[in-house]
Amino acid sequence: MSKECDLLVIGAGPGGYVAAIRAAQLGLTTICVDKRHLLGGTCLNVGCIPSKALLHSTHLLAMAQHELALHGVQVSGIQADLATMMAHKDRVVSQLTAGIEFLFKKNKITKMQGTATLITPDTVSIRDESGSEQTIQAKHILIASGSQPATLPGFVFDGERVISSTEALFLKVIPDKLAIIGAGVIGLELGSVWRRLGSAVTVIEFTDTVLPGMDGELRKQAARILTKQGLQFKLSTRALGAEIQGNGVAVTLAPVAGTAHQEVLQVDKVLLAVGRVPCTESLGLESLGIALDSKGFIPVDHNYRTKIPNILAIGDVIGGPMLAHKAEEEGVCAVERLLGQGGQVHWDRIPGVVYTQPEIAAVGRTEESLQKQGVAYRVGKFPFSANSRARAVDQTEGFVKILAAADTDMILGAHIIGPQAGDLIAEIVLAMESDLSAEDVARTCHAHPAFGEAIKEAALAVDGRAIHV
Ligand code: NAI
Repeated sequence: MSKECDLLVIGAGPGGYVAAIRAAQLGLTTICVDKRHLLGGTCLNVGCIPSKALLHSTHLLAMAQHELALHGVQVSGIQADLATMMAHKDRVVSQLTAGIEFLFKKNKITKMQGTATLITPDTVSIRDESGSEQTIQAKHILIASGSQPATLPGFVFDGERVISSTEALFLKVIPDKLAIIGAGVIGLELGSVWRRLGSAVTVIEFTDTVLPGMDGELRKQAARILTKQGLQFKLSTRALGAEIQGNGVAVTLAPVAGTAHQEVLQVDKVLLAVGRVPCTESLGLESLGIALDSKGFIPVDHNYRTKIPNILAIGDVIGGPMLAHKAEEEGVCAVERLLGQGGQVHWDRIPGVVYTQPEIAAVGRTEESLQKQGVAYRVGKFPFSANSRARAVDQTEGFVKILAAADTDMILGAHIIGPQAGDLIAEIVLAMESDLSAEDVARTCHAHPAFGEAIKEAALAVDGRAIHV
């Protein structure tokens, strides 16, 4: 049986499903295929959303344990109920996947389950779980197949003891001891979840810092706060391998400087969070002559076209920040450009957020990268300890830091660690996308009392005019 469409989207994650909706809005007959039965991809099913649900539930637990008494709220008998937390998380995921189903129906998008393989530039075979195959004739194909957890030599995922972020979202028992390889976004977020639930968490990181690549001051503050929360870090440490031993696992570590002083960490589980790799293996790209680049990404031009012009690719499979919102923007942009519309997606203006407590958010250049390139800049910094709203709610840790070009005052980057950082960063992204200066932000009225005033004050501080410090 063969179906026809204007656009076949491969992958129903945030990149793919959003692209499908935009395409349908623009009048294209659209089919979206995914290996999973549920829509939403990694982000919704086993990534961003379930992790945020668990982060919030465990944050409430930590508040009950450590903060409520300060506010005169007395609670006793505080206990973590893991099954209820997991059920809440699963409910959130179900509600949101059902929401996308609804949007697909509303926009008359055909949803298919199966593995898509390109046969010719406009023919795709879809093989479902039972092995039955359908062929789709598509005028255009958009690949949004996303990414999967990277592995390391010496580690083999068994889903039980050596786990990825996927399994770490579904544990039924709180591990006494959890090792996490990688102090990146996943390591710190899931490390926070399980630490708050009582696990002894050791985070092993190859580089000499948490969150490598982020602004230095932010990294330092993050490490300090998370250490205070009980995460243990072993930096400049190489993870050599994991061996299952009885009910536990032995993780062998060595200093990056050499393998002479190996140590073995005995834990219940080890979570590998050392980045993600693009999912391209079943797409059949090779047979069409589409070669991957040296890192396994699909090369595309500025219209997201591969070397075969009617085959497009967006999101994690093309490189750049591996983030849901980056994929969404690219999906919309690719579809609009197909129809002669559309703007641009600037990778250097994609915000990144780490949902620890407090949140960490950044966009644009770091001080280190500006210094490396000899760019003259001014820094405006404002601490949340001087923000009245932060004082009122007792969330005073952290700061806002804005970097602006010394000559033009244009905003080059911003780095926030503090309450609602993930939401606050949007203002700076908008300012950067609109080519505004730090002065423009400084002269914008911000509601009082609000966390956002820290952004205004940091913008004022670029010119040495902050009021409240
Ligand atoms: P990541 O790239 O953020 O961090 C990986 C860490 O592992 C790095 O710090 C790296 O230096 C370290 N590492 C690599 N090899 C190592 C080794 N052999 N031994 C010890 N450490 C090693 O990757 P992560 O945390 O796995 O996240 C994957 C992707 O998912 C990222 O692109 C991230 O941005 C995205 N993500 C985004 C979230 C968000 O937006 N809040 C949440 C979770 C993931």
